[in-house]
Amino acid sequence: MRKYDGVIFDLDGVICFTDHYHYLAWKALADSLGIDFDESKNDRLRGVSRMESLEIVLEGYHGTPLSDAKKTALADRKNALYRQSLQTMSPKDLSDEVRDTLNELRSRGLKLAIGSSSKNTPLILERIGLAGFFDAVSDGNNITRSKPDPQVFTMAAEMLRLPAEKCLVVEDALAGLQAAAAGGFASAGLGPAAQSGEATYSLHSFRDLLDIT
Ligand code: BG6
Ligand code: MG
Repeated sequence: MRKYDGVIFDLDGVICFTDHYHYLAWKALADSLGIDFDESKNDRLRGVSRMESLEIVLEGYHGTPLSDAKKTALADRKNALYRQSLQTMSPKDLSDEVRDTLNELRSRGLKLAIGSSSKNTPLILERIGLAGFFDAVSDGNNITRSKPDPQVFTMAAEMLRLPAEKCLVVEDALAGLQAAAAGGFASAGLGPAAQSGEATYSLHSFRDLLDIT
């Protein structure tokens, strides 16, 4: 019997490398506010919602107190910068390795879903040529609680009509691995998350998924 019937992929930092665009947009916002911001701080934002990310960025802010309206305006500014970068993306930003692996998993009969905190998921999937490809898309637009809460993965599994124990979650974020564990999902860690000790499987490369499914 097959171990998993479905795979739920995080998007940013797993399917494509929008994580660098997030970094550039947060960095520009932080610079404009006189806040120190570097790649290691950016790692703490992986998998975390936009407003929660803003609070982490603002840990380094020592100016006059910010109202909720001002914080929303700052998040909107960051998002506008980020979406400018997304407009430069195209199907060339989907690697051959990711495309071939997704196709192979599907040909093995696995159901494939996205489980991302991002409200920009539909735009990103369209830009990289994957609009309509996945069997289910659960993202920042259909959740009320962000990773490390398991809601985004639980909803993806429900959309696939599969129990958590039959789905594998693929993540680059610690918050995402914690979300998977909290929801009863096995997980495969890539990039920074692979080193955290929180993943069920640590992958060197996306195609390693073919060895564990
Ligand atoms: C996650 C990213 O996928 O989406 C986070 O890892 C980001 O860094 C979050 O903050 C929310 O993204 P968006 O596109 O809704 O601002
Ligand atoms: Mg990610």
